Amino acid sequence: MTLRNHCAGLVLTVLLVGALCGCTRPTETDRMQSFVDSLMSRMTIEEKLGQLNLPVTGDIVTGQAQSSNIAEAIRAGRVGGLFNLKGVEAIREVQRIAVEQSRLGIPLIFGMDVIHGYETVFPIPLAVACTWDTQAARTMAQVSAKEATADGICWTFSPMADICCDARWGRIAEGFGEDPCLASAMTAAMVQGYQQDALDDSTTMMACLKHFALYGAAEGGRDYNNAELSRYRMFNDYMPPYKAAVEAGVGSVMASFNTVEGVPATCNHWLLTDVLRDKWDFTGFVVSDYTGVNELINHGIATDKHEAATLSLLAGLDMDMVSEGLPMLHDDDRLLPAIDKACRRILEAKYRLGLFDNPYLYCDSTRRQTDILSSDNRAKARAVARESFVLLKNENDLLPLSKDMTIALIGPLADTRANMPGTWSVAAVFDRYKTLREGLQDAVGDRGRVLYAKGCNLFYDPKTEANGTMFGREMRDTRSPQAMLNEALDIARKADVIVAAMGEASEMSGECTSRTNLDMPDAQHDLLVELRKLRKPIVLLNFSGRPVTLNWEAENVDAILQVWFGGSETADALADVLYGDHNPSGKLAVAFPRSVGQLPMTYRHYNTGRPLPDGKDEFSKFVSCYFDSPNTPLFPFGYGLSYTTFDYSDFALSNTTLSGADSIVASVVVTNNGRRDGDEIVQLYIRDLVSNPVRPVVELIAWQRVSLKQAESRTVEFTIRKDMLASFDADGNVIAPEGKFDIMVGPNSRDLRKVEIEVRN
Ligand code: BGC
Repeated sequence: MTLRNHCAGLVLTVLLVGALCGCTRPTETDRMQSFVDSLMSRMTIEEKLGQLNLPVTGDIVTGQAQSSNIAEAIRAGRVGGLFNLKGVEAIREVQRIAVEQSRLGIPLIFGMDVIHGYETVFPIPLAVACTWDTQAARTMAQVSAKEATADGICWTFSPMADICCDARWGRIAEGFGEDPCLASAMTAAMVQGYQQDALDDSTTMMACLKHFALYGAAEGGRDYNNAELSRYRMFNDYMPPYKAAVEAGVGSVMASFNTVEGVPATCNHWLLTDVLRDKWDFTGFVVSDYTGVNELINHGIATDKHEAATLSLLAGLDMDMVSEGLPMLHDDDRLLPAIDKACRRILEAKYRLGLFDNPYLYCDSTRRQTDILSSDNRAKARAVARESFVLLKNENDLLPLSKDMTIALIGPLADTRANMPGTWSVAAVFDRYKTLREGLQDAVGDRGRVLYAKGCNLFYDPKTEANGTMFGREMRDTRSPQAMLNEALDIARKADVIVAAMGEASEMSGECTSRTNLDMPDAQHDLLVELRKLRKPIVLLNFSGRPVTLNWEAENVDAILQVWFGGSETADALADVLYGDHNPSGKLAVAFPRSVGQLPMTYRHYNTGRPLPDGKDEFSKFVSCYFDSPNTPLFPFGYGLSYTTFDYSDFALSNTTLSGADSIVASVVVTNNGRRDGDEIVQLYIRDLVSNPVRPVVELIAWQRVSLKQAESRTVEFTIRKDMLASFDADGNVIAPEGKFDIMVGPNSRDLRKVEIEVRN
């Protein structure tokens, strides 16, 4: 009999009494609350604190569970959940200890970092953002949930909604880029994909929005660093994706490592309670990041573990990941109300997940066979991957290639299985994926030839390379640079075209991978220079988990496809695009700077009193600019080419005044005037011309993907409502729009046509 059945009698009595009093019929929330009330009335303070404890595991394998230290703690009711344990057998065994051997039999929650897929790996989130396709994000999350739950996991530490305008920060790979509008849509879609409005379904899992808040604004792009912004900028530029996740019903939130306004997020009452709960009505639970509670001592806000835990609990933190600090708080009666609240929120999450009805809901060992790494899942990941690549340059229509060609595939990323999925692919099974070399070979079959040479190591310095290639992604070659170069030049001379698979290795982005130099790593740059001297056409497949500086490459190679990390199906997806079976349509979700010196940068910047004149981008004295660089990025936000071309014309508005509850329709004719069918992502931007506080010079508000046959024209329409023009004040309240606005449309944030409108009350 489950715990829920045990309590059912009592709950029923409570509800019946309510019904006899003539109250309205109990809702599911009432039933949950009564259940939790009844359970909590029987819990000791230690058991309540146990629910707040999320120790790390990962080392428990089937058969060991009974005797591990963690098992002892579970039996004593001192554990609320575990993370990084996977596999139905292991999880079932541990769950059994909680349910059958602890006093109250409360089930555990099992969490894991399922970030962009499970064994079927989708592209890194930044790449998925470049699809501008919310359905792609939803599909990724849905497939991730299906696979992870088939392996016993019911809670994922995803999505990451941190806006980032600074490519030095390696975790930019895990988020959706620089723009709050695009990132909000993607974040909400991920939450819906994971949770599906049916948390107690055995194929869905609870999402965890992270990292609340402003983690992506780390100063200097150095991971875990302080983030400071005015509240006005927070609410307008960084908070919208978090808010969107809360509105989409996210079940849990993770506090970030960084400080905000001098107070670490882990113990920041303003963030965790005033904003998250009181302003946004979040009703789920908040978990710390890994050892975030103990880190308050290093931050210098608490003197010891006990104080760190107290501050966190009182700020609104409910669950402690790894520090085991919250469970220490049993000796201070003043904390009892906060402990009750936190415990209740965690029990409610377990209730919503259906764990009280069936603690083994996610322990169906028959599902692995059908649900994990299925051909259907892999086909979905391949489709998303090829939508995520961004074509940055394609001189003389070098791409697509013909399958009859002899290609020289060169570079450290060309033949490495482990470096295809990308950072945070913790359940990846590398030997089930193809290397790029294998993918291209399979695509051409007997028609063409794929010659291969590694050409160089990632970096000349083995230490630097080791820093960026851990967790089984090592690929150091012990041959001399000259020997590797000779081999590459040799095959390049025999080929029609050079395909360079270069850039970052998988672990050069993700957590703790900040870089101060975003150029192509030294050894690879030198190899490209040597290859260039052969005067053969070069296609650069640029692998990276972040925007990088590609100035030399943009001048000297013929075609550049930004491929990010495309997941388990990268090789086939790249073959689809390289050989033209799929026409690329990705657009940058974050700009590529010209230099690190420009960072942080965003197209959505606020104007200065001394801007460069429109259309001018070179040094001018006493104007806001650099004397050694243009202000603009190398490739702007929203940019991306196709194998065909699109023309924009006849931009028109149904009205140039927007008043009351009306809306305006903006329309533009988009024509495919190139030589293939293709998709275009049409983008709509605004500028609030005069306002107090001021607004950015340009802001994305909507977009649409259109598929156009060769020579086809389509009128693309956007309905503009007032709420799409609104902003937030420094308290996070909506400021209604008023006055003159530019409405702009185009293929990216730079090449826009505009019409002015007047917004009235
Ligand atoms: C990361 C989180 C992650 C957690 C658990 C931390 O270091 O910042 O994003 O969810 O570890 O693995």
